[in-house]
Amino acid sequence: MQKIIIEGSRRLVGEVTISGAKNSALAILTAAILADSKCTIRNLPDIRDVAYIKDMLLQMGAKVETNQDTMVVDGSNISKYKIDMDLAKKMRASYYFLGALMGKFNKAEIPFPGGCDIGVRPIDLHIKGLEALGAKIKLSHGVIKAKATELVGATIYLDVVSVGATLNIMLAACKAKGVTTIENAAKEPYIVDTANFLNAMGANIKGAGTDVIKIKGVSVLHGCEHTIIPDQMEAGTFMAAAAATRGDVLIKNVIPTHLEAISAKLREMGVEVIEYEDSLRVINNGRTKAVNIKTLPYPGFPTDMQQPVSVLLALSDGTAIITESIFESRFKYLDELKRMGAKIKVEGRVAVIEGVSKLSGAPIYATDLRAGAAMVVAGLVAEGKTEISNIGHIDRGYEKLEEKLIKLGAKIKRVDED
Ligand code: UD1
Repeated sequence: MQKIIIEGSRRLVGEVTISGAKNSALAILTAAILADSKCTIRNLPDIRDVAYIKDMLLQMGAKVETNQDTMVVDGSNISKYKIDMDLAKKMRASYYFLGALMGKFNKAEIPFPGGCDIGVRPIDLHIKGLEALGAKIKLSHGVIKAKATELVGATIYLDVVSVGATLNIMLAACKAKGVTTIENAAKEPYIVDTANFLNAMGANIKGAGTDVIKIKGVSVLHGCEHTIIPDQMEAGTFMAAAAATRGDVLIKNVIPTHLEAISAKLREMGVEVIEYEDSLRVINNGRTKAVNIKTLPYPGFPTDMQQPVSVLLALSDGTAIITESIFESRFKYLDELKRMGAKIKVEGRVAVIEGVSKLSGAPIYATDLRAGAAMVVAGLVAEGKTEISNIGHIDRGYEKLEEKLIKLGAKIKRVDED
């Protein structure tokens, strides 16, 4: 086991380059098995979740070649339609194989997925969608077993806006007979990126990025080349870190429109955010003002970013209210911030944060992926030494985090735990 140690109170200054988007990468690597030949996928982040998906692809019999940030996936000869229980438990996105394998074989057996512990995280909408396309699904001993004689397009209304369900239905519907319409679909950039990838493979998907997506089934999907979009959440984390440390950071390789909700909140707090074509500069010279945040599906304020931004709120003038409307227990990490001196009260899905003058370094624990990012931001800004344990979560989603922060002037290192 390893932990991260940070000597805090140092401004972040300089330039950082954002890696490819984790959530796109996971869906797109899975989607590649639908092709009848090789797919070349570029700008993949070097993170543990991508390595897990690669392991799943290999376990199913796909050929995978990796060269730096590029993976060539040939899933044409896959014959397995099951995922190993130990692998699937490591991450949430293993559920994309449900849609992709149904699209490829009309059958799939996927262990109930793992991932961050941030609430109940049901997959009823994924199942509802696949059933509407004609799949018969049963859950037995922790494994979801799905099969169909054929998948036939249908209109599916998602009761809750779900990124995962939208993508899973898209994957299953690409080769279904007729037209599938997803209503109340998620609009996240990952949905558009995955639809672009599938369309490059020969799929016929229209409306990705709006709340109605239409998928006209095609009989064959072929190999293609695709470059993953930049990671909105990694960029948002560096934006929060730059602002919290009163730094001046140019964040390169981003799509500024994907970050608008975060930029707007930072500006409301008094932080300067300058947008360029594919980069953003975040400058903060003083104490920020408290603002209220409500997490919402894209283009609203992302639930993944309430955690890193809460550190900034803990050090802002006034009282901030965060309402978490996506996941019911995404506030566990706030107990760790309190250990560092933050003044926070949580009532259900609402956290009330009263700004304090400083945070002080302490031994803290990364309760999930984005909580881990928040702990790092807290360590960067706190006085003295912060030790973060359970950092495996951070490695699931951040490429070379310490290396990137050191280049910006942070004093951060990784050590083996005693
Ligand atoms: C994805 C992202 C995650 C992000 C989240 C919300 C990936 C791998 N993960 O997670 O980083 O925090 O979107 O932007 O892309 N729900 C149901 N039934 C379902 C599915 C979801 O009720 O069948 C609910 C969830 O409990 C939650 C809401 O829908 O309240 C949104 O979840 P969803 O968008 O599905 O999140 P994930 O796809 O798991």
